[in-house]
Amino acid sequence: MKVFVTRRIPDVGLTKIAAAAEMDLWEDRLPPPREELLRRVVGCHGVLTLLTETVDAEFFDAAGPQLRVVSNFAVGYNNIDVAEARRRGIQVGHTPGVLTDATADMAVTLMLAAARRIVESVDDVRAGKWLTWEPLGYIGQDLVGRTLGIVGMGRIGTAVARRCRFGWNMKILYHDRHANEEAERELAAKRVSFDELLARSDFVSVHTDLNETTRGLFDADAFSKMKPTAVFVNTARGPIHREADLAEALRNGSIFAAGLDVTDPEPISPDSPLLSLPNCTICPHIASATVSSRNGMADIAADNLIAGLRGEPLRCPVP
Ligand code: DGY
Repeated sequence: MKVFVTRRIPDVGLTKIAAAAEMDLWEDRLPPPREELLRRVVGCHGVLTLLTETVDAEFFDAAGPQLRVVSNFAVGYNNIDVAEARRRGIQVGHTPGVLTDATADMAVTLMLAAARRIVESVDDVRAGKWLTWEPLGYIGQDLVGRTLGIVGMGRIGTAVARRCRFGWNMKILYHDRHANEEAERELAAKRVSFDELLARSDFVSVHTDLNETTRGLFDADAFSKMKPTAVFVNTARGPIHREADLAEALRNGSIFAAGLDVTDPEPISPDSPLLSLPNCTICPHIASATVSSRNGMADIAADNLIAGLRGEPLRCPVP
């Protein structure tokens, strides 16, 4: 069996894959260019992909009819045309669960960093602009007792809510297609409409997947409904917020600050208006970047790939 692995992942995954199949590994730090990707998947029975690879009909055509499985090294799988894969009988796997805590920690880190103006302060210290202790300098927002609005109350959203409920006694609102009874019971979380969540929340944190209903969900209209003291956090997918609208909301004071682990495109364009805004904290999509999360992702992704090669049910198939 022949497989292509589109980037070096932790050894725990590579060792398993190399023992089970003939592995072609893309060693570069950057993703394979599209043409190279389409060339390398020819004749493969399985491919391990990252969120940087678009897996669509063209990809499947290039690979050929023997392709059995695509194993995504991510919990999100918006880079894959799952319906097209199903039509062709190709299994698709992802890596849920193992990055829940790391991603929730990242969302809370961004909430705190944005609310307390950490990056702006650090930048000033480094630039020699720390002049004195100022009674009115670097004033931010508190978390204790405030209201957190979670958009997408799945595993990660619930983990963020739990931290905020038990850490800072925050009130929890959420917006989701489905009721989350466990969160309602355990965290006194209340399910509300999107508009009510925007109007009442002091912190809004995004944890939904990217799909046609969430693309551009946070646009000028949404930001205009938020409190001027609100902090917006996105650790899910960049296209869920509209960059130009967010920049304008941060510039004109419609909202207080933003913390982003995701942008559109990635990496962020050097011309992005967000880069020059002191009230926007941006990280390079690192929420799952902890030893245990990345090892866990490698382990699941390898198991998914190997099961798919054998024609067995995957450990974690996409739903
Ligand atoms: C995912 O898994 O979907 C993250 O965005 C990367 O870890």
